[in-house]
Amino acid sequence: MNNVIEAILSRRSIRKYKLDAITEGDLQQIIEAAKYAPSGMNAQSWHFSVIQNREKIEALEAVVYEALKGSEDPYLKKMGELAEFHYFYGAPVLVIISNAANSISLSPVSDAALAAGNMMLAAQALDLGSCWIHILTRLRDEPGVKAALRALGVPKGYVVCSALTLGYPDGPLPKAAERREGTVNIVE
Ligand SMILES: Cc1cc2nc3c(=O)[nH]c(=O)nc-3n(C[C@H](O)[C@H](O)[C@H](O)COP(=O)(O)O)c2cc1C
Repeated sequence: MNNVIEAILSRRSIRKYKLDAITEGDLQQIIEAAKYAPSGMNAQSWHFSVIQNREKIEALEAVVYEALKGSEDPYLKKMGELAEFHYFYGAPVLVIISNAANSISLSPVSDAALAAGNMMLAAQALDLGSCWIHILTRLRDEPGVKAALRALGVPKGYVVCSALTLGYPDGPLPKAAERREGTVNIVE
């Protein structure tokens, strides 16, 4: 099978990681793959904050919990009570993808998602696992989270669109979920 198709079909969201760090070479290739994603008007207005420090990732998780506990949204507040849940799954690397609020792109969020997709496929091709983590996008405007994101290098005037965990999967890849039928029509 073609290598790209194989990476697409075999990639799974990984939620358990080994402690091993990612090699610098692999990380650079994954970041390069992100930067080669298409972008509206070729804006390339994204920013990637690559955090390779477990203590800093755990500290961010603590900030997330504080924000959840203090949230006025009952659903988010309830999530703050699940103290045993690790949003970043103990991964050795977290990549926060943001995009300029004043981007000339037609869709900065789509651009960030395409960059994230490239990273996930590059990770798969390098025998690494990844998972899209949504909680930072949800909490990005909460003051404590906002300050923590700035401290981790998300530039002023940039909006967090996505985050990814990266690392070596601990255990076999999960089985792919069944694909839904009836989502395609072909016109000839
Ligand atoms: C926009 C988006 C948000 C997601 N948010 C999360 C998340 O916060 N935590 C998580 O564990 N997985 C998250 N996922 C991963 C999905 O749950 C996963 O892609 C889906 O269950 C299919 O599984 P697969 O990726 O293994 O094929 C997200 C995926 C997308 C595209």
